[in-house]
Amino acid sequence: GSWEIHYLETVDSTNSWARQEARQGARDGGIYLTDYQSAGRGRRGRSWEVPAGTSVMFSILLRPDLAPENLSMLTLVMGLSVAEGIRAGTGLDAGIKWPNDVVVNGKKICGILTELDTVSHSVIIGTGINVNMTSFSEELREKATSIAAETGRSWSREQTAGRVIASFAENYRVFAGTGDMTGLKEAYQKILVNRGKQVRVLDPRAPFTGTALGIDDRGELLVKRADNGRVETVFSGEVSVRGI
Ligand code: BTN
Repeated sequence: GSWEIHYLETVDSTNSWARQEARQGARDGGIYLTDYQSAGRGRRGRSWEVPAGTSVMFSILLRPDLAPENLSMLTLVMGLSVAEGIRAGTGLDAGIKWPNDVVVNGKKICGILTELDTVSHSVIIGTGINVNMTSFSEELREKATSIAAETGRSWSREQTAGRVIASFAENYRVFAGTGDMTGLKEAYQKILVNRGKQVRVLDPRAPFTGTALGIDDRGELLVKRADNGRVETVFSGEVSVRGI
């Protein structure tokens, strides 16, 4: 496919913008970019508020021919692309905390919100990357960081966006070949910060502790249980994983 960039200085949320365009027939491959969101959305109904001009925020509209259960893997593809883009552009040791947090020195540097719109049959992958913010609220200080905070200088948001989007375009091509993580698994695991670490799987029915081994072709986390040594596959939609 090909990509087409749309830009608005200010918008409510690029995910909402992309969804609206999708419902009006916009084609696959649209990238909706902004400098400021007045009603940015995060996961689990949270808001995503960022001062104007300090971050990269965009949503990609796709109309992939995929089974619904494979759509969640697109979040992994984007996480990998953001980590690769940051690594290539800044030299920072950006890693992935499964399933989709991109982290630097243990702190979150990017958020991804993937939404399925059944009305328009599209998937919208929204990405916010912390580039030039230098101060964080007390609530976020321990948990969040930015490229500037980690390197001590500011960076071009255009170049950061360009690198991440180029990386996504290439990774998406590989992903679409099989419709799963087969071709990207190795690259993903190489920078998976949970790998080899103790994790607690917060399955509401049967929580357990174990060692994260990597991911499988479907993007599920493989966890070797501490109690009986069995390897369990953890599906991202089902449970959350905490490092311990
Ligand atoms: C998270 O909770 O970690 C996900 C945050 C996703 C934020 C991005 S910014 C661009 C896009 N538009 C939105 O309203 N949200 C996503």
